[in-house]
Amino acid sequence: MDNGIILYQSKYGSTKRYADILQLELQFVTKDIKEVTLDELSPYKTIILCGAIYASGISGLKVIKSHYPSLKGKTIVVLAVGASPYQIDALNDIYKHNFSVDYCSIPLFYARGEWDESKMSFKDKTLCKMLYKAVKNKKDEDLEPWMKALLSSSGKKCDWVDSQYLKPLLAYLKETV
Ligand SMILES: Cc1cc2nc3c(=O)[nH]c(=O)nc-3n(C[C@H](O)[C@H](O)[C@H](O)COP(=O)(O)O)c2cc1C
Repeated sequence: MDNGIILYQSKYGSTKRYADILQLELQFVTKDIKEVTLDELSPYKTIILCGAIYASGISGLKVIKSHYPSLKGKTIVVLAVGASPYQIDALNDIYKHNFSVDYCSIPLFYARGEWDESKMSFKDKTLCKMLYKAVKNKKDEDLEPWMKALLSSSGKKCDWVDSQYLKPLLAYLKETV
């Protein structure tokens, strides 16, 4: 496979774990997106962004979007890492939330990460508590996948990181690159 770089933005570590698995699989360079400059991206034909999902936004994507015009001709793929179980409708919603038509050539893949309130910042813990209160009395049929995941994970320590989630992304790269 051609040369490439894996960029990640991870607050609590699960997205970085996926970046590390991809590095082992692809032998690509891996870097925290906050430490990379546009010039450093120029030698790479393939860019994989691994970004955690926070309130439906994919972390790190802003950087890719800001450099997008200069990245023409490169293969860019995004792996979003969240707590919700994989569901195509939910992934479509994440896509709509994060990608306008300008970025419609970027494929989005999904992997389930971690839920560990003991690792969370005070701000994130407070936000999650508020969200929990807001959704706990909703009827089952009104719950979106992330709400269900929040209700079932709240107060528990969950680790869903699994290399199996990377199979579709790896198959895509094998076909395209
Ligand atoms: C404040 C907050 C908001 C979150 N919002 C979402 C969300 O909208 N959808 C989702 O699937 N997961 C959501 N999560 C769960 C994280 O995406 C999940 O824990 C992920 O594994 C974190 O990645 P990291 O360990 O690399 O930081 C949220 C977590 C926190 C703390």
